[in-house]
Order: sequence, then structure tokens, then C-alpha cells
Amino acid sequence: MPLVPAVEIEISDDERHEVLAEVDRLLRSGRFSQGRNVEAFEEEFAAYTRTASALAVSSGTTALELIFRALGVEGREVVVPAATNFATYIAAERAGATVRLADVDPTTLAPTLEQVRAVCTPRTAAVTVVHTGGLIGPETEAVAAWCEQRGLALVEDCAHAHGSERGGRHAGTFGVAGAFSFFATKVMTTGEGGMVVTGDGRLADEIRLLRNLGKPEVWVSTHTRPGWNARLPEFAAVLGRAQLRRLPEVLEARRAVAVGYADALRGLPVGDFLLPDHSYSGYKAMLMLPPGTDRDALKERLRERSVQAAGEVYAMPLHHQPVLAGRHAGLRLPGAERACAGQLCLPIYPGLDDERQAHVVRALCDSLTELTEEGAR
Ligand SMILES: Cc1ncc(COP(=O)(O)O)c(C=O)c1O
Repeated sequence: MPLVPAVEIEISDDERHEVLAEVDRLLRSGRFSQGRNVEAFEEEFAAYTRTASALAVSSGTTALELIFRALGVEGREVVVPAATNFATYIAAERAGATVRLADVDPTTLAPTLEQVRAVCTPRTAAVTVVHTGGLIGPETEAVAAWCEQRGLALVEDCAHAHGSERGGRHAGTFGVAGAFSFFATKVMTTGEGGMVVTGDGRLADEIRLLRNLGKPEVWVSTHTRPGWNARLPEFAAVLGRAQLRRLPEVLEARRAVAVGYADALRGLPVGDFLLPDHSYSGYKAMLMLPPGTDRDALKERLRERSVQAAGEVYAMPLHHQPVLAGRHAGLRLPGAERACAGQLCLPIYPGLDDERQAHVVRALCDSLTELTEEGAR
């Protein structure tokens, strides 16, 4: 069997032709920034997520930072789950906040309400939840209600959650705002890029200002805020629009792969496969391995069997990241530590056919059995 790669990015012929035709139109128009593609992409994304406003920006990290800045978290605290991308942390810090790390439940990779409450203080301005791997945490509504009661802003990091919904609500609409990433490996991409969704008109206006150097009028150089350039280019928006049109099909294919894993792995001694009972993006196929499994050794054995495991979400909790050394000294967050150390992410993408998926499952079972037998000797 040829290598089953961790990630496979495929643009169909139809989509390629569609994008090329649109890029040709764009090149002829000469308007490469803040034109009709960005505007249409925003309208279409707002309609898709059923939010009042969507604002296209240069990355998911920037989307988060703009939300935190627009909320005015400077000098206050922002709660961030410890099992997330460094982007979530640095966005809050760059907006002038001090980050408090919350633990997560290793069976969902999301913080519980209890875990959020445990780290909130009178200085807390905002709470962040991350829909890791595309799963909306089961306590998101409870966290949202609690935040609302206390006047705290709930910010959703939706970098993995395009198309993730529960109870008729799309990810990004449970709190005050959601931040999406369109990085190259995400469920939908613009190469680099991001989107803020929000139902709060004031927040949307502020972010619109901040992303364009603080100019109330897009093409007039009068600046009323210390904003910076966080604009999404028209070329990126062309790809984004095509990707959004194809998203339902991609989600269906990814989810079918996830369901395939869940069915194939059910009852096997390989750990717990995380699959929600509501719609999820299928960004990651996450397996919590049996305690004590040496993940690096397992990944090596998988590699010998032509399977490349995908990147974890995440391999290291934030309080162990070298860049934050000393900031959270002595902090123990057992749920996040277990979530990060114990997970394996299996290949998942629309083009992963039944044969290759069956090969991944076989390779996983054989590799784990081999490691267990060696350990018992
Ligand atoms: C959970 C999470 N938040 C934020 C980001 C940042 O997104 P971007 O790479 O578009 O800046 C990522 C990135 O990949 C992510 O995984």
C-alpha cells in the first residue's frame, strides 16, 4: 500500500476552473483589495453561519486578536483552554490581556463549566472556548449562559469548526463572536486568512475599523483608531468563495470517514474515538489512546506500515510550551496534560477511500498489538 498521508489537499477540476475564471475576471478588473470578492465572501459566510456580520481578515490569529481588542480586554484577564494552539493565547496577550489557563475534559478536549469557573476572577473580561478538531464542547451552551449572567464575553475559537453545528446553531454563534481560520490545511482554505463572525453590531464596526488601519472610510486616510492592516486580499476571497460553495460536500465526506473510523474501531482495544452525536466539521479524527501508550513509538510503527498520523490538537499543553516557560510554573492541569499526551489523530480527508481507511485501521490495530506484546515481554 502506498503511503496514506496525514493530510491530502485536493481541488477538484470544477473548482479549479471556477477559481481560474474568477481570478481572470479579477485580474482584468484591477481591484485587488477590498473589492467585490471580499464583500461577497463576507455576505456568504454570514449567511452560511447564520450570523449578522462576517468580517474577512488576514488570519485566524488576527481574527482572535481583533475580537479581543474590540472587546477592550487590555489590563484584564482572558481565560484560554490549555489544550489549544498557541495562537489563541498570543492573540489575547497581544490585545493586552493576561491569560489564565483552564483545564479541559480529556474525553471531549473542551473545558467544562466547572473548569472555566475555577479560573475566572474579578479581573476576567472574556472566556475563550476552542472547538477542537471541529467538536463543539458539550458544555458550550452552559458556559455561554454562565458568561452572560456574569457579564463576561464568550469568544469562540472556530479555527477547526467550519460547518460544526449543534441545536441549529453554527459554531461561532454561541458567544459574542467567533474566529475562523482559513489556513492551508483547514476544512476550507484561502491559503492564509480568517473570518470573524458576530451578532454584535458595535463589535463588527470596531473590527472593521481596526482591520483597516483605523479608517472609518475604506479609501480615505483619516484614522480614528490605532488599527493595523489585517485585510484579506481579493485573490484569497476568490478561493474562499469557491471553498465555501463546496463545503457541504467536503463536510459530508469528512464526516463519513469519521463515522467509518468509529464503526471500525468500536469494541477494539485501541482507546476511545471522539465522535459527537451532532454535526462536526471532521477536521480531525481523534483517538484517545489506552493509558500508557507510547505515542511516538506507535507513530513510528504506523509509518512502517505506510500510514502517516496527522498532527495532534495538541501534542503539548500551553503551560509546557517553551515560549511560556516560567509564566505558569508549577501549574498542573491533568485533563489537558492527558488530552495532549494521550491522543492520536488519524488521517481524515474527503479523498480517503474505504480501502485506504481499512488499511489505516489494520495498521493501527497491528501496531498497538505489537507494542503491547513487546511491553509484556
Ligand atoms: C485552534 C486554533 N486557533 C487559531 C489558529 C490560528 O489560525 P491561523 O493559522 O489562520 O492564524 C489555529 C491555527 O491553525 C488553530 O488551530
